[in-house]
Amino acid sequence: MRKKIIAGNWKMNYCVNKGVDFVEEIKERIDTDKIDVVICPNFVALDRIFDAIEGTNIYLGAQNVYFETSGAYTGETSVDMLTAVGVKYCIVGHSERRKYFHETDEMVNQKVKKLLEKDVSPIICVGETLEERDASKHFDIVEEQVTKALKDIHKDLVSKKIVIAYEPIWAIGTGVTATAEQANEMCKFIRGVVAKLYTTSVADCVRIQYGGSVKPSNANEILNMSDIDGALVGGASLTNDFVAIVNYES
Ligand code: 13P
Repeated sequence: MRKKIIAGNWKMNYCVNKGVDFVEEIKERIDTDKIDVVICPNFVALDRIFDAIEGTNIYLGAQNVYFETSGAYTGETSVDMLTAVGVKYCIVGHSERRKYFHETDEMVNQKVKKLLEKDVSPIICVGETLEERDASKHFDIVEEQVTKALKDIHKDLVSKKIVIAYEPIWAIGTGVTATAEQANEMCKFIRGVVAKLYTTSVADCVRIQYGGSVKPSNANEILNMSDIDGALVGGASLTNDFVAIVNYES
């Protein structure tokens, strides 16, 4: 039985004090008994948010990482820097990073490998554009992203540590949500891709989230689908809506 995982991707929102205040406000109301909850603030807020969630079962996540160990990479952040402040999960290959910062599938794969070396769980984002879906290319696109992200990753690490987030780009920040059926169909397809790359038992262990305009009004339906093991929440993770999503009715 896969444990659900709901992560809040704050993106480039909340300066540190505001972020700490927000976490203080919601942390006692978040029910972590049955699901893993992850909060992903910006880099400079990680340390203080870690202090704010101490004593709860909420995990700290980062939004990005660089794949080199250390050195002359101005502006980048290494895995060791993340683990030093308590990071347990890290979003990789978000569509905004692919679009604005030209991240490729190969870079995503390097980041995944580096995170796994240090026992951090990657949350690998995949998803198609509207044009790709309209052209019926969405399955091919997602299969390629998943396959490349997992290249040369050992099956034991895949089953124990990898989280995949299906985030159709047309549903991110648009208010348009994929229907629960569309989301489940793709999450199931991704599980099939993992089974093809590894085995069915590995695929059965991998947690696959849906992300894209998840809100309290659609969370119950989405989170109760057979192949959706959680959500990656953007805008709604910045408000009390996050509490309602995490405490959805299962
Ligand atoms: P929204 O929930 O704001 O659509 O963002 C989704 C997302 O990109 C999470 O990573």
